[in-house]
Amino acid sequence: MTTYNICLLPGDGIGPEIIAEGVKVLDAIGAKYGVGFEYEKALIGGIAIDERGTALPDDTLAIAKAADAVLLAAVGGYKWDTTDPNLPRPEQGLLGIRKGLGLYTNLRPVQIFQALSEASTLKPSVIDGVDMMIVRELTGGLYFGMRERFYDEEGAGADGKPGQRAYDTLEYREYEIERIARQAFEIARKRRSKVSSVDKANVLETSRLWREIVHDIHDRDYADVELEDILVDNCAMQLINRPADFDVVVTENMFGDILSDEAAQITGSLGMLASASLGDSTALYEPSHGSAPDIAGKGIANPLAQIMSVEMMLRYSFDMGVAADDIRRSITSVLDEGWRTRDIADAATTSDHVVGTVAMGDLVVGHL
Ligand code: IPM
Ligand code: MG
Repeated sequence: MTTYNICLLPGDGIGPEIIAEGVKVLDAIGAKYGVGFEYEKALIGGIAIDERGTALPDDTLAIAKAADAVLLAAVGGYKWDTTDPNLPRPEQGLLGIRKGLGLYTNLRPVQIFQALSEASTLKPSVIDGVDMMIVRELTGGLYFGMRERFYDEEGAGADGKPGQRAYDTLEYREYEIERIARQAFEIARKRRSKVSSVDKANVLETSRLWREIVHDIHDRDYADVELEDILVDNCAMQLINRPADFDVVVTENMFGDILSDEAAQITGSLGMLASASLGDSTALYEPSHGSAPDIAGKGIANPLAQIMSVEMMLRYSFDMGVAADDIRRSITSVLDEGWRTRDIADAATTSDHVVGTVAMGDLVVGHL
C-alpha cells in the first residue's frame, strides 16, 4: 500500500477544529482508495510563539520539508496582534514556511456551488457560471522586500522632534515572473485557455516588467492561450461586474491577496475558498480564510475550505483526481440537502439543518 506522510500544522483559533475534519476526510479517502496517510504535527503561528518564542521553529520547517505534503489550517489571533516591529507575529510563520519551502505558486479556485447561489451578495444572474482560478505569486513582492521603520529629521512633526518613517519595497526578478506566468498558462490550457494578467503598469516599474515578461513567455510558448492585461483597479471592479468572464487570473503577491478575498465573496463566504501553494519539490494546502479567533473553540466554524484544501492535495500532490472528485461530489450533495454551517446559512435554511464543525465533517465523510 502506498503511504504518504503529511505534515499537519493546526495553528491558532479555529485551526485545530477544522484541521481535524480535514484529517477525518483524508482518512476516509485512504480507507476507500487503499492509500495510507501518516501524520506528523508541528507548531506554527501564535501557539509556536507561546511555546517556542518564534512563529516558525526550525523543526517545523524540517518536518514540513521532509513530508510528502503539508496541511495547514490557520494562524493568528488578538493575543499576538501588535504593531511593534520588534515583537514576533503569527503571520511570520506563514510567510516563513511559504518562502522556506519555495512555494511560489498559490492557486485559489473560485467556484460556485449551486446550492449556495443565494448566499452571495451578488445577483444569481451575475454569478451564474463563475469558475475562475486565481494564480497568485507567493514568495516575492511587497511581502518579502526590504522594509524598515526608523526615526529621522524628515519625519519631524510641528514640534521639530524627529518623527518616524517606514518603507516597504516591491521588487520582482525576471525569473520569478517567468515561472509564475508559465504556471498560469499551463493551468489555462487545462481549463478555458484564457489568462487575465493583473498589474498596475500605468504606475509601477515592477508591473511594466511583469507585463513584458508575461507577453514574452506567451508569444514564445503559449500563443494558443488567450491573454489579456488588466489594471488591478479595473480588475477589482470587473470581478463583481462580470465575474463569469474570468478563467485564469495571474498576479503578483499583494494584488493576489486582495483580489482573492474579493473573489471569495462572490461565492458567498470566505469559508468556502481553499488554496494550494506549490513549489518545485513540495506543496502546502490551506483554507484562504484566517483563524477566526472570535468563534474559536465554539465548534461552529465551517470546515469546508479546509476539506477542499484536502481535495486539492489529492489532486495536485498525489495525482488522485478521482478521489478529489469524490470529495467535491460529496460536498455538493451535503449542500444540496440543505446542510449549512452558520456562516453559509440563509433564510431558506431550517434550524435543524444548521450544523457545527464536527457534524459538517461527518456529513462529508458520510456522503463519500
Ligand atoms: C492569505 C492571508 C495571508 C496573506 C496573511 C495571513 C499573512 O491573508 O493567505 O491570503 O496575506 O498572504
Ligand atoms: Mg489574504
